[in-house]
Amino acid sequence: MAAVSSLERNFVYDPFAVDVMRDPYPYYKVLREKYPLYWIEKYGAWAISRYQDILKILTDPRAHLTTTEGTLMSPSMMRRKNGGIVPPPRLNPLDIFPNMPSPYYEQIRQSAIAPLRPHAVAGLEDFIRARVRQRLEELIARGRFNATVEFGGYVASGTTCRLAGLPLDQAPRLLELVNRSTSRNPEKGGFTDDYQEVSKQLFGLLADLSRSRRKAGADGSNRMVDGLLNLEFEGRRLTDDEVAAELVSIIVGATETLPKVVGAGLLELWRHPDQRAEVLADLKTNARIAFEEMLRYGAPAQWFTRTVVDRPYQLREYTLMPGDRLIIIYASANRDERVFEKADQFIWNRPMEEHLAFGYGMHFCVGVHVARLEGRIMLEELLRRIPAYEVDEPNARRVISDFQLGWMEVPLIVK
Ligand code: HEM
Repeated sequence: MAAVSSLERNFVYDPFAVDVMRDPYPYYKVLREKYPLYWIEKYGAWAISRYQDILKILTDPRAHLTTTEGTLMSPSMMRRKNGGIVPPPRLNPLDIFPNMPSPYYEQIRQSAIAPLRPHAVAGLEDFIRARVRQRLEELIARGRFNATVEFGGYVASGTTCRLAGLPLDQAPRLLELVNRSTSRNPEKGGFTDDYQEVSKQLFGLLADLSRSRRKAGADGSNRMVDGLLNLEFEGRRLTDDEVAAELVSIIVGATETLPKVVGAGLLELWRHPDQRAEVLADLKTNARIAFEEMLRYGAPAQWFTRTVVDRPYQLREYTLMPGDRLIIIYASANRDERVFEKADQFIWNRPMEEHLAFGYGMHFCVGVHVARLEGRIMLEELLRRIPAYEVDEPNARRVISDFQLGWMEVPLIVK
């Protein structure tokens, strides 16, 4: 409590400050309590931290928001003031769909996401379960492994390859490139020094995939890539580089988030042996429920950005002006005491109607069905196979990032 008080006395919130990146939760608590809309002059941005405020602004038709400045702005982008005027959508070369307004947004998104629809995802269950089982046997034989990368990352990157039609032997490379490209500079926030180079490699891998599908006739047998290749967009087809850019945003989401939910969730179950025993009592039913709490409690995507356009918007006593950016802190909303009782505690079966781990409204996560399926299977299989696992907590390592939250390394010991 004392730590929170000293924080409150000199309170400054900057999402890219090292202390915030190390552990943002105490900051989020103060934001929710004292400054639910917190103005950051140097970024021209409001940080919004309460659940109901976020829901309101993301669903109110009077709030005109755009993403043409990006949904994940870096510190250098945020420092550049927009003077109240946001850039128009970039049509050529085409920007990634999360940055596009309607109707372009829907056109591009729909062309790529057939394999992510519920029916298609249900068909992945056997593939994912087999891969999880095979991986567990390898890891159990080692006696110790990193639940985030070696287990969660392995499974997620395999599923990503399957979704995008990449050969499975590319999964380790994909995982490495995605993890490196989404890492943040632990001292300054924003991208790491090798970001450009790593992104180029990831982009190259996906542009090659697009080229090979184009050459093969893009007959629809790879629904994600062929869907993008066959999109008629403003009277033209997308280039391989444009297809690759669209794929990057899907593939990064598919590969980097889920492993951290699984790692953090397994850590919490180990910290609460009574809860672990309850989950184990009926794994088939309970893994699904526990995974939702893992999402609420520890989903890695901290915040996303929007920009106000067209007209001022009144949110309680605050007037948000055109050009103002919004830092929408889903991770704070998921710990909002006004919505979740004992919000800072992990309670595997807490009554919960919904949470914001997958966002809300227009940009709601396209991978939600895959993520839920993978999470449930990973929990079911791991807990069935090694129900008494231990965690080497002193050697667990957090992510230091403005973008992600959670644990990059959760060393599990097989018991
Ligand atoms: C536990 C795992 C996951 C979490 C916690 C998560 C979280 C999120 C969140 C919070 C958003 C909203 C962004 C915003 O408001 O701007 C989002 C969007 C998105 N997610 Fe996920 N995600 C997960 C898994 C996935 C998977 C498996 C995929 C792909 C297969 C994926 C692809 C995307 C994409 C492409 C968007 C952008 C959607 C848009 O702008 O319309 N995510 N995700």
